[in-house]
Amino acid sequence: METPAQTGAQPPLNVNFWEQHYQEGRTRWDLGQPAPPFVSWFQSAKAPPPGKAIVLGSGRGYEAMLFAEQGFEVTAVDFAPSAISEASQAAAERDLVIQFLQRDIFDLVPEFAGQFDYVIEHTCFCAIDPSLRTAYIDLVTELLKPGGELLAIFFTHSRPGGPPFGSTPEQIRQLFEPRFTVMSLEPVTNSVEARRGEEHIGQLRLKAGG
Ligand SMILES: C[S@@+](CC[C@H](N)C(=O)[O-])C[C@H]1O[C@@H](n2cnc3c(N)ncnc32)[C@H](O)[C@@H]1O
Repeated sequence: METPAQTGAQPPLNVNFWEQHYQEGRTRWDLGQPAPPFVSWFQSAKAPPPGKAIVLGSGRGYEAMLFAEQGFEVTAVDFAPSAISEASQAAAERDLVIQFLQRDIFDLVPEFAGQFDYVIEHTCFCAIDPSLRTAYIDLVTELLKPGGELLAIFFTHSRPGGPPFGSTPEQIRQLFEPRFTVMSLEPVTNSVEARRGEEHIGQLRLKAGG
């Protein structure tokens, strides 16, 4: 798998970039709550059964805590020390057991290869440089157990530049379909106001031999 260092795409979207945002309180992406589409998933019959899950770019840990509360065994990864520290504290205050890792997601393999039933994605795919999307798909593929699933909320806005870097449902299918069966990829109907009409929720299952 090609790493950020090999592609040369990392700066300025490195740990310092994100850590500085946390330290200066410039975290406009932060909803202060788990993403509503995941919350409503758990209130519906479509809710995925609990399993071992990893949250990529977990920020202040809202999705990690939501999935832990639903009985999932959760690992949450972010390379920004402030994000991990704040998320760990919030989880401890709720008596939630979550494995927090301060780590570059692209350094998770081989250590965590093949360990997870689920990869949870919310505003990490849109935070990395688009040149790393293939590496991201390699990563998700390698983290999952056979038949494992990516549960994702994709930021499908069409503005140029980023972060957040937008993507279209067509691009998502094109990128993932060689290795994943797209079980569902639907427009989100209960986004927060600022993201209304610009999110898709997806359940993508790793193909055999993916
Ligand atoms: C836009 S924020 C979203 C945070 C969280 N998912 C949320 O929705 O509140 C992107 C997060 O991904 C983290 N991140 C970006 N690239 C990363 C990488 N290569 N490895 C680990 N974390 C990364 C950043 O530190 C930041 O916390």
